[in-house]
Amino acid sequence: MPLYRQIYEAISRGILDGRFAPGARLPSSRRLAADLGVSRITVMNAYDQLLAEGYIEGRHGSGTFVASKLPEEFLRVKKGEKHASGENNNRTINFSDYGNYLKNSAGRIVDHHSRSTIAAFQHSLPAMREFPFDVWSKIVQQKLKYPSQSLSGYGEAMGYRPLRTAVAEHLRSTRGVDCDDEQVFITAGTQQAIYLISRILLSVNDTVWLEDPCHLGARDIFEAAAARIVSVPVNEEGFDLEAAKKLSPPARIVYVTPSHQFPLGITMSLERRLNLLEWAGANNAWIVEDDYDSEFRYAARPLPALQGLDRGARVLYLGTFSKTVFPGLRLGCIVVPPDLVEVLAAARALTDLHGPIIDQMVLAEFITEGHFERHVRRMRTLYSERQAILVEQAGKYLSGCLEVARADAGMHLIGWLPEGVDDRAVSQRAKESGIWAAPLSRYSNTRAGRGGLLLGYTAFDEREIKTGVKALTKSFNRH
Ligand SMILES: Cc1ncc(COP(=O)(O)O)c(C=O)c1O
Repeated sequence: MPLYRQIYEAISRGILDGRFAPGARLPSSRRLAADLGVSRITVMNAYDQLLAEGYIEGRHGSGTFVASKLPEEFLRVKKGEKHASGENNNRTINFSDYGNYLKNSAGRIVDHHSRSTIAAFQHSLPAMREFPFDVWSKIVQQKLKYPSQSLSGYGEAMGYRPLRTAVAEHLRSTRGVDCDDEQVFITAGTQQAIYLISRILLSVNDTVWLEDPCHLGARDIFEAAAARIVSVPVNEEGFDLEAAKKLSPPARIVYVTPSHQFPLGITMSLERRLNLLEWAGANNAWIVEDDYDSEFRYAARPLPALQGLDRGARVLYLGTFSKTVFPGLRLGCIVVPPDLVEVLAAARALTDLHGPIIDQMVLAEFITEGHFERHVRRMRTLYSERQAILVEQAGKYLSGCLEVARADAGMHLIGWLPEGVDDRAVSQRAKESGIWAAPLSRYSNTRAGRGGLLLGYTAFDEREIKTGVKALTKSFNRH
């Protein structure tokens, strides 16, 4: 801390905790400087700051004094006590209904959305050491060296136009999404996309159908919106629409991951997709299609998005750059039917106006110059190799404990435990050996069915995967 700031802090603290009484005279700047062995300018800077903030007052010709009119009750509170909760603090917090909900659920929510631990086999993480940061930083430098007008003011709530154009083009050509630039809305990742959708389309007690098991980011948002959550089983063809119809009245929103069900990895059959679209049309429901990792399909071409089959403007398509670029970037998109655009833009404007323009600019150029496509292609090969190593190692060392089979898509595999084994206990013990493998039941409201571990492989090289499997083997042997 600069010297003047230390002097300022010491005096202001003395005033607040009552050691320097209102009206008391302070030493002259010359004297205090001599006592402290600092320059007079330093003391004068501290006094100027105290004067500007009203802690002290100067009386012409007679010196500097502690301000005479400071509120009594403020002075009696010692500084440390200001932040203390409980008895020292005689105010109550009247939270809103939403605040009250969060107060009671904060621990769980923060636990679901905490900082990533980068350790084998944490899932959903890209291979950061392989990202072309040299290219990325060159684009950043160039954008900042020759700043365009777009950087100097506020931007559009819908996002930076050239990025929307680039994303629309990318989604049309690689995902079969039926859209023009006007429908593409840039968000701070899928999380914000789902939040904004819940704000504009969901009222208290509206029914939401979720896959069981389900992405926690989605479930937490819909629960916080006070929706009626109905967990719908997933079978070998994906979301089980017939089961949903038996379980509850029609939903207002159906949240699905048709390309690659999270976390089970199942692809929704074409018949199911068509049935779901037809049902949504007949029941005035919205389908939220979370297409979070479809770029990573190893065997065949990715299946086109459900949105591309939609003729009734029922689907809101969500994409994210968390898997293809990196999660900390916090950029994703929603493709919305044209008649939702304006309301969604208003909801975003009220939230945070829009995301940082510089990041959107850099990403737009990263895509249009071909770097994005090149990187994704390279990662597809690398991830497929990493998956093969994991399956081979697990087959060698974990057979009988954990059944791990190859999959033709995604960023994690499910390691299936023997029937009846509690995956939460296994996951906890693995964590004690430094291995992060989330239990499958964490993503389920019902905890029905066989237990398993989510084994992310994309962020770890061959050595890390081998060491991880050994540590997991040790953990199994020990228990
Ligand atoms: C199903 C699903 N959707 C979306 C995301 C990405 O969310 P975001 O874009 O907010 O980082 C994840 C990340 O793990 C996910 O598992």
